Amino acid sequence: MNSINRSLKLLNSDLSETKKWFLECLQELGTSVHIYTHLDADGLSSGAILGKAFYRENIPFQISVLRQLEREEIVKIVNETQDTKSFLIFSDFGSGQYLELIQKLNTKDGNNPFLILDHHLPQNISTKDDENIKEIYINSRPWHINPYFYDVDGSREISGAGVCYFFAKMLNEKNIDLSTIALVGATGDIQSQGPNNSFIGLNSTILEHAITKDLVEVINDLNFSPIKPLNEAISYSSDIHLPGLSENTSKMLKFLQSLGILMENSEGGIRTLNDLNQDEKQKVSSAIIEYISLKLDIEPSEIIKKLIINRYILKNELVGSELHDLKEFSYLLNSCGRSNNGSLGIAIAMGDRRMAYNKAKDHLINYRKSLVQSLSWLQEKNKIQYKDYIQFFFGENIIPENIIGTIASMLIFSKSGDIDLSKPVFGCAKRKDEEVYKISGRAHESIVKKGVNLSEAIREALELSNLKALGGGHPPAAGTKVPIDKIDIFLENCNIVIKKQLGIK
Ligand code: C5P
Ligand code: ZN
Repeated sequence: MNSINRSLKLLNSDLSETKKWFLECLQELGTSVHIYTHLDADGLSSGAILGKAFYRENIPFQISVLRQLEREEIVKIVNETQDTKSFLIFSDFGSGQYLELIQKLNTKDGNNPFLILDHHLPQNISTKDDENIKEIYINSRPWHINPYFYDVDGSREISGAGVCYFFAKMLNEKNIDLSTIALVGATGDIQSQGPNNSFIGLNSTILEHAITKDLVEVINDLNFSPIKPLNEAISYSSDIHLPGLSENTSKMLKFLQSLGILMENSEGGIRTLNDLNQDEKQKVSSAIIEYISLKLDIEPSEIIKKLIINRYILKNELVGSELHDLKEFSYLLNSCGRSNNGSLGIAIAMGDRRMAYNKAKDHLINYRKSLVQSLSWLQEKNKIQYKDYIQFFFGENIIPENIIGTIASMLIFSKSGDIDLSKPVFGCAKRKDEEVYKISGRAHESIVKKGVNLSEAIREALELSNLKALGGGHPPAAGTKVPIDKIDIFLENCNIVIKKQLGIK
């Protein structure tokens, strides 16, 4: 048996026990389920998978979307739950706060049962190899499900939505159709990271389920948005840059026309990648490879690696809609969550293709605009500051808290701009309702391989700075919040911890 199958077998065996316990609790309590989930694409996908599964079983539920499961939120949840006595589920967060949840919810007079379905490193655990994971695992049956218990890397091999999917599938085999939403969640958490954007670990098992049910098709395609006018799609690409053309969409259009491809569609607009046939795509691809290799002296094989990718097509969705392509689908959900419209995202992921979908598309335009504006502001005004081992920026009054993490991700993971990939970046945005900065740390794979672990770094820097906030996440992406007057010392401590993680004396 290979290691994925071994992990899955153990996971399923535990999920079967969790299911039994969950149903018994529901019967005993005689109340509904309250799901708390994270606001990003993975969190919304997690909530939608659970919601759909409960709907199918006639289990009453409600879903609340939170920006993070902070201590203050846990206190609020405890107060809210005092009277209702709902069964609580925490999805796409909860592991990083599990001790807090035990302390606050399992009080003598309260004793609220809850279930955590998450993929983040558990509280006080710094790496996937930490020996203490075993002990947490043993002591948290059946109410805590986390991939690290099964030797599965939660930052790369399964997302929160994936964990919820396996739980939903244990509830009822027919939930296998929710495999597509689990893949949307994984895509949102940038987990299709294998060669050619392939999925690895348990995500690849989920993909197999979706393919078996004829829900997803994997095609080899050019790495551009399939639904934007092609000249814009190429210009806005964060992976492919054609010097002299990418900056100017009308020049890009002329370049495409010069290849002998008719770029106008029947309505007078510009054709998209989806509109092109194989021959035309081949022409575009050869021309781009030739252009970049001449201008930048890069080997064609290197260009191809970025230019040709796996595209995941949701076969039951309308061709040309955002929902037809996994990446665009997850982008749409992210835009919902990050514009305080999480419930729209959940409705879409649960199947709404009318009101919620149409409203979300309107928000998408503004979301895109604010990302583009934020990135150009950072670059034009040289807002990125440097220490020896880290780089950081403040959102000021331009980048709000809800997109600071997305901007940090774009800088590091999609190379949207001039950024030093050898240092992690920390985005800091002042919160509107609190005298704190929300911090989003992101590190490129190349330095994670060298030992950088942001989940650990943030927790250690909080401790060194004498700060009590909860913090953590994954080695390449983690967050927390820091009081305004402690930000300098916190960043300095991050610098010290990262230096140590890189093994520099
Ligand atoms: O908030 P942000 O997007 O920067 O968070 C990066 C990652 O760290 C996310 O996966 C988030 O859920 C996680 N995180 C966490 N605990 C926190 C803050 C963030 O686990 N207190
Ligand atoms: Zn997640």
